[in-house]
Amino acid sequence: MGRRKLCIAGGVVAAAAGYAAYRASLGALRDADAVRRLYDRVSPVYDAAAWVFRPLGARRLQGRAVELLDLHPGDTVVDLGCGTGVNLSFLARAVGEHGQVIGVDLSAGMLARARRRVDRHDLHQVTLERADIRNFRLPADTTAVLATASLEMVPEHDAVVRDLAEQLTPTWGRLAVGGVRRPSTWPAWVIALGRTATAMFGVTSAYEDIQPWRSVRRHMDEIAFDTAAGGALYLIVAQTRPVTGDRATHISGRP
Ligand SMILES: C[S@@+](CC[C@H](N)C(=O)[O-])C[C@H]1O[C@@H](n2cnc3c(N)ncnc32)[C@H](O)[C@@H]1O
Repeated sequence: MGRRKLCIAGGVVAAAAGYAAYRASLGALRDADAVRRLYDRVSPVYDAAAWVFRPLGARRLQGRAVELLDLHPGDTVVDLGCGTGVNLSFLARAVGEHGQVIGVDLSAGMLARARRRVDRHDLHQVTLERADIRNFRLPADTTAVLATASLEMVPEHDAVVRDLAEQLTPTWGRLAVGGVRRPSTWPAWVIALGRTATAMFGVTSAYEDIQPWRSVRRHMDEIAFDTAAGGALYLIVAQTRPVTGDRATHISGRP
């Protein structure tokens, strides 16, 4: 084999190995450390890349989520997997001057972007915390939790939602979960295209088995389910179930 052919063959093998490593790293996204590394890496371009989804209906669903969380002035709301903070100013406006918004994320890179956004908009009621969704405990007075495009990355999402429902019970709290899902009517090639377009956020075929909205339905009472982008984006909003029996006497809050 000539020198040139050898170089081309070597290049093809190196590219294939690189691609395989890339796919493998995406496949490992169910591990929180891999998620953190990926989001630290994409944080500088996240907002620009995610902007594409806004006209596709992501912005409308975000507005609907904030509205259906039924926030009142003075409330405490938690944004789980807040990323660069796209939801924070809407939540801050809803809870007003004396409310509290807590943004939680694993990735220091994403939180640094969120911090810049908070400072730029002078959102003094927002605090940011670097923590894992799976271990985060809600402040006792939390009335609402929002999680957009984050619970898909948490394999234990069913236990997380069950736990959130439990923690929100004393305040009759609400939970809104949004994300990407595979529409059942889309042809395979469109799905493949969508997967490629969202690969930088860690979306793989493995993602399709993780369906947090089912956990929300399992553990809470559904208030609304909405979709956009032909069903590829979804939002579910739910409320904690009424408590009966002895425990009911220990709790208070909004009916
Ligand atoms: C696709 S981004 C969504 C960010 C933001 N919610 C939005 O709608 O633009 C997913 C975010 O979830 C965070 N995340 C994923 N798994 C997490 C976990 N176990 N604990 C905390 N944050 C997590 C990632 O670091 C990332 O910032």
